[in-house]
Amino acid sequence: MTKAVETLILGAGAAGMMCAAHAGADTLVIDHARAPGEKIRISGGGRCNFTNLHAGPENFLSQNPHFCKSALRRYTQWDFIDLIARHGIAWHEKTLGQLFCDDKATQIVAMLVDEMTRAGARLWLGTSLVDLSHDGTRFHATLDREGTRQSVSARNLVLATGGKSIPKMGATGLAYDIARQFGHALTETRPALVPLTFSDAPFAPLSGVALPARVGHDTTHFDEAVLFTHRGLSGPAILQVSSYWHEGEAITLDLDPTGALFDALRAQRQTQGRRNLTTELARHLPAKLVDHLTPLLGLSGNLADQSDARLGEIVSALRHWSLKPTGSEGYRTAEVTLGGVDTDELSSKTMMSNHLPGLYFIGEAVDVTGWLGGYNFQWAWSSGWAAGTAI
Ligand code: FDA
Repeated sequence: MTKAVETLILGAGAAGMMCAAHAGADTLVIDHARAPGEKIRISGGGRCNFTNLHAGPENFLSQNPHFCKSALRRYTQWDFIDLIARHGIAWHEKTLGQLFCDDKATQIVAMLVDEMTRAGARLWLGTSLVDLSHDGTRFHATLDREGTRQSVSARNLVLATGGKSIPKMGATGLAYDIARQFGHALTETRPALVPLTFSDAPFAPLSGVALPARVGHDTTHFDEAVLFTHRGLSGPAILQVSSYWHEGEAITLDLDPTGALFDALRAQRQTQGRRNLTTELARHLPAKLVDHLTPLLGLSGNLADQSDARLGEIVSALRHWSLKPTGSEGYRTAEVTLGGVDTDELSSKTMMSNHLPGLYFIGEAVDVTGWLGGYNFQWAWSSGWAAGTAI
């Protein structure tokens, strides 16, 4: 027997549950996972960086940078903060406007389940899509619910199955397949917010060393921590820049982001001229990193041996360290998928398809990708809300 509903939402993640909380009572949400919101649960080290105080369209990458504006403006970080306040969830700002739960990320999952069930939506876990068609008026889905076939027809279909990152957690390209099935174009997808790798593992001896830096690519740069790893580079600044980087391109590291090093070295030369140059540099940079850079920059002698020009040369090299990663850690560890369903064929107000009324794409599946720092969840909330309230 076919079960008829008004709205079928595929994916009980951040965007899907937010949408279900607003889409009206006759809504069915399905997910192949055993639990809803698994990425929320593991996010932010178990505390979920659920939004960012400074979230705005400039923090998102998309082929059409204007697309995200409407949803972000109509459902803001302040709306989400109000929601969690109503649920008594305590939070704090960690850094750079990033808001985390004081307690556990599972509070956010419980809140969303509560919101959607209170709105009347039903949730079927352990359920996957077997077949999908549209008869000109309604969608017809064959589902596998824990081994049992079930037919569902719906007037609206919302794709909220996210991107391809972390396949081990159940990420699939289902939204992209369905987009193609109904004639939607996709922009190129690739792993983003991901550590970068070097085939010859030049930083293996530095593994675990971290320092604040400015990491740049082209005209974009981020001032955050960099972490050296066995296979390459990680840390927030590297993850941020990874979203802009393409294979074959270089990134630049500025290891003196405050620009104070040259004056500091000159001042020390005045009073501590007999101090070894590398010893002095190790007061400003991690000692292991100074060891690594010593042969590369030909560092030798005492501070008194270094002319202004030579100090300038050393500082300049530290401020413009150009590196060419050979790859990234890929979808295995990427926090998000860059690219996705092309926004050209979606309404920025409702997230509905321009050529098949009733078909919606929300969250990470869409070609809108946020920076690191709570922006991706904000997009999930804003786009989920936009579709839910439009339905
Ligand atoms: P999401 O991935 O949340 O949900 C998709 C749902 O669809 C899942 O429940 C999945 O099981 C289901 N699904 C997939 N394929 C299916 C299929 N074929 N059939 C049925 N169901 C299917 N962002 C942020 O802002 N702050 C943070 O702190 C973090 N931290 C973080 C840590 C880690 C380790 C990762 C991997 C990611 C983050 N992110 C993040 C990114 C954030 O998790 C992500 O952008 C959102 O979860 C996207 O929300 P969606 O609802 O679009 O997809």
